[in-house]
Amino acid sequence: MSLKNKTVLITGAGRGIGKAIALLFANHGAKILLASRSQSELESVSHDISKINSESHVFPYDLTKDESLNNLAHHAIQQNIDILINNAGSGIKGKFHKLAVNDMDHILSINMRTPMLLTKLLLPHFLQKQSGCIINIASIAGKMGMSNSAAYCASKHGLVGFSHSIFEEVREKNIKVCVICPGFVDTRLVPQTNKVDRNKMIRPDDVASACLFVATSLQHSCPTEMILRPQHSPYHSLKK
Ligand SMILES: NC(=O)c1ccc[n+]([C@@H]2O[C@H](COP(=O)([O-])OP(=O)(O)OC[C@H]3O[C@@H](n4cnc5c(N)ncnc54)[C@H](OP(=O)(O)O)[C@@H]3O)[C@@H](O)[C@H]2O)c1
Repeated sequence: MSLKNKTVLITGAGRGIGKAIALLFANHGAKILLASRSQSELESVSHDISKINSESHVFPYDLTKDESLNNLAHHAIQQNIDILINNAGSGIKGKFHKLAVNDMDHILSINMRTPMLLTKLLLPHFLQKQSGCIINIASIAGKMGMSNSAAYCASKHGLVGFSHSIFEEVREKNIKVCVICPGFVDTRLVPQTNKVDRNKMIRPDDVASACLFVATSLQHSCPTEMILRPQHSPYHSLKK
C-alpha cells in the first residue's frame, strides 16, 4: 500500500517520535495533519515537510480538551483521513503517593483518554469507508510495572488493552489497529541523567519505521502489537 493520496493525523507531531513519523510518512507522499500544543514546533515540522514537496496542516491544540479533539476530528474527516497515529503523551517521574492528583489526571488524560476519544470520533468515518489504520504509541511501560511511573504505566496498560479491544471490534471492516510499545527512546521525554547511555536508546526514526511497516506492508494480516527494545541495553556499560 502506497501513502500517495493518503491523509495521516499524527498527535504530538512537533518533536521527538511524532516529528520522525511525520517526516517519514511525508517522504512517502502522505498529506500530514500535525497536532500538539506548541505552534512553533508544528510550524517548523510543516516547513521541513514543504521542503520535500508534501502537504501538511498544523493544529496547535491542547489535546486534553474535548473541544480541541472535536475540532481536530472535524478537520481530519474533511481531509478524508486514512491513518490516525495517537502519539502525544507525557509523564512525571516520582513516587505515586507524592504525585499530585492533578498530575495523575493529566497523565491518564493525554496518554489514554485522548487516544480513546479521538478514536471514538474518527471510527465512524473509517467504518463508513471500510478502511483505515489506527496506530497507538504506548510504551514498554504498558507491558510491565515500573517504580516511579505508576500513573504512566497505568495509562499505557490502558492504551494497550484499548487497542486490542478496538481491533476485535473493527477487524471485519478492514481497519488495522496496532499498539507499539517502545522501550527508552532518545527524546525530551526521557530526562538527562548519567545513569543511561543515550547513544544506546532507540532512535525516533526506528519507531517511525515501525509505524510505516504497520501502515503499508501487510494486506491480509494486522500486526496488532509491536514491542521495540533497544538493541543494546542503555544500562549495560553501567553493569560492568
Ligand atoms: N521517549 C521514550 O522513551 C518513550 C518510550 C515509549 C513510549 N513513548 C511514548 O511516545 C510518545 C511520544 O513521546 P516522545 O518520546 O516523542 O516525547 P516528546 O518529545 O516529549 O513528545 C511528546 C509530544 O506530545 C505532545 N503533547 C504532550 N502533551 C500534549 C497535549 N496536552 N496536547 C497536545 N500535544 C501534547 C508534545 O507537544 P506539546 O508539549 O507542544 O504539546 C510533543 O509533541 C508518547 O506517547 C510517549 O509516552 C516514549
